[in-house]
Amino acid sequence: MEQNIYDNAHFFKEYQAMRKGTLSANDLIEIPEIRLMMPDLSGKRVLELGCGAGGNASFFIEKGASFYLGTDISVNMINEAKNSFENEKVSFQVLKMEDLSTLQEQFDVIISSLAIHYVADFDKLCKDVYRLLPKEGYFIFSQEHPIGTGTILNEECQKEDKTKIGDKEYYLVSNYNENGKRIVDWNDCKVVKYHRNFSYLINTILLNQFKIVEFREPTPSEELLKIKPKLKNQFDKPYFLFVSLKKE
Ligand SMILES: C[S@@+](CC[C@H](N)C(=O)[O-])C[C@H]1O[C@@H](n2cnc3c(N)ncnc32)[C@H](O)[C@@H]1O
Repeated sequence: MEQNIYDNAHFFKEYQAMRKGTLSANDLIEIPEIRLMMPDLSGKRVLELGCGAGGNASFFIEKGASFYLGTDISVNMINEAKNSFENEKVSFQVLKMEDLSTLQEQFDVIISSLAIHYVADFDKLCKDVYRLLPKEGYFIFSQEHPIGTGTILNEECQKEDKTKIGDKEYYLVSNYNENGKRIVDWNDCKVVKYHRNFSYLINTILLNQFKIVEFREPTPSEELLKIKPKLKNQFDKPYFLFVSLKKE
């Protein structure tokens, strides 16, 4: 049974405060990067999985998409999205990624920002997405980087995630090759995520007939480092992995 932590009132309040507060890595890295990876969107039908509060909808419409459907497991998120964005080309629906087989229409571009690591069965997700795409359709997603999800085993691992040798801090990596469930302490809640190593991700993608367009592990520019110096840690341990796939 999948977890719907964003409908936990306390978690949702804390998460929204984080996203609306000072510029986060989502604002500075994740959002700009995934938008750079989009193909030409004019006249395209777009489906977003785990759309959250719908922050991407306006981007797709501005870039010429003919229709955007944002879906999420969380009623809180979908209500927020509906309240913040109204457009005849845009629709939001409570729908979990595990139930994509209920969708009948096709989409040219299917995207997901930082939500896929909440899904237990990545193989089934790939199959469902493949069915919803026409030939030449794209599946583009970001997720928490496997080097991060792999190591997290308990609260202590989250706090003590590096060690110093000489003058340099080194991040700890462990249990990378144990795929499966991870319980993360976040906003005073136990949040369930799923770790998948690179070979599992790549082999599942290939077994499902997708062409790999690209993987990205972006590092911050000089300008970005001036805005948020802490992001220099992205050279050591990236927060995010970006994947672009195509159905041929
Ligand atoms: C980290 S938030 C990202 C939200 C949005 N994509 C963004 O970048 O602002 C993860 C989102 O995934 C949603 N989610 C988690 N598990 C899901 C599932 N099984 N099916 C659909 N959405 C899910 C959550 O409700 C939440 O809105």
